[in-house]
Amino acid sequence: MAQSAAEMPERANQTHPTNQSHLANQTQRANQSHRAGETYRRIAVTKLCGAAGAEIDGVDLSQAIDAETVAEIRRAFLENCVIAFRGQDLAPERQIAFTEIFGKVEQHPLYRGNAIEGFPDILVLEHKAGQFINGKNDIWHSDITFSETPPLGSVLHCRAVWEGYADTMFANQYLAFEALSEPLKRLFDGMTAEYDAALLRTLNNSQNYNAPMGAIPPPVVHPVVRTHPETGRKALFVNCAYTTRLLGVTAEESKRLLDFLYAHCTRPDFVYRHRWRVGDVVMFDNRCLLHYVVQDHPFDMHRRMHRTTASGDRPF
Ligand SMILES: [Fe+2]
Repeated sequence: MAQSAAEMPERANQTHPTNQSHLANQTQRANQSHRAGETYRRIAVTKLCGAAGAEIDGVDLSQAIDAETVAEIRRAFLENCVIAFRGQDLAPERQIAFTEIFGKVEQHPLYRGNAIEGFPDILVLEHKAGQFINGKNDIWHSDITFSETPPLGSVLHCRAVWEGYADTMFANQYLAFEALSEPLKRLFDGMTAEYDAALLRTLNNSQNYNAPMGAIPPPVVHPVVRTHPETGRKALFVNCAYTTRLLGVTAEESKRLLDFLYAHCTRPDFVYRHRWRVGDVVMFDNRCLLHYVVQDHPFDMHRRMHRTTASGDRPF
């Protein structure tokens, strides 16, 4: 029998209670963000999409930044997870100084090739002549979660790209956790998982233009749902690049539950897709995001990113 239009919204609500609470949470956050945005005095903050991302205007990162501007940039970062500055031209030492706003700068524990000469803290991620130096990154992941203390986040300064190709996608893992039903939140919150770098080494060492990786650190255990140390919000924390198994369940249960989580946590509803321009400086929060580099570019496109990384805490 045909359903009347008046019935449909009510039935939809009954069928998808979590979507309703998810949307209510989004509305609440959008309102909070809007109100917070009114208080920015030194920078202009423009949201790039509902899931994550904001463009910051009014700052020249090649110059020293005053304390009030730094505080506003940090607040915009925590509210939006990804912040993008356009049209920047940073010398290596200025990129390092900007990264230090967020935390102590650290080098990648395993990648050793293709750093900037004289600046080992700046890793060059590059696609040139069909070769991906230091990672292709077409896999959803958060960086270096095989470490006991994964990074807080990274700064990417785009030095070469063909605009419209090789975008980076960021998936908001606060939203991914909040969109779960209450029973599944209870199931995963408190569960732990194992993470290791074996897949990274295999991928790296299958590409003969990368510096080969030898020994990798032993696996580590992290929570499946972590609490962000600065915002206090909970975020899903598994990723298919480094998470190898859930602990405390059978191998079959682990596989099926992880497959579910990997499909869930990268839903388009949670994703901001950054379209790169030369001169972009993007800082992303590795504690509450996954990211993925889209492989849609021609063979001869040159893409070059200068990456610096701020160190993070042990997840809890
Ligand atoms: Fe990455």
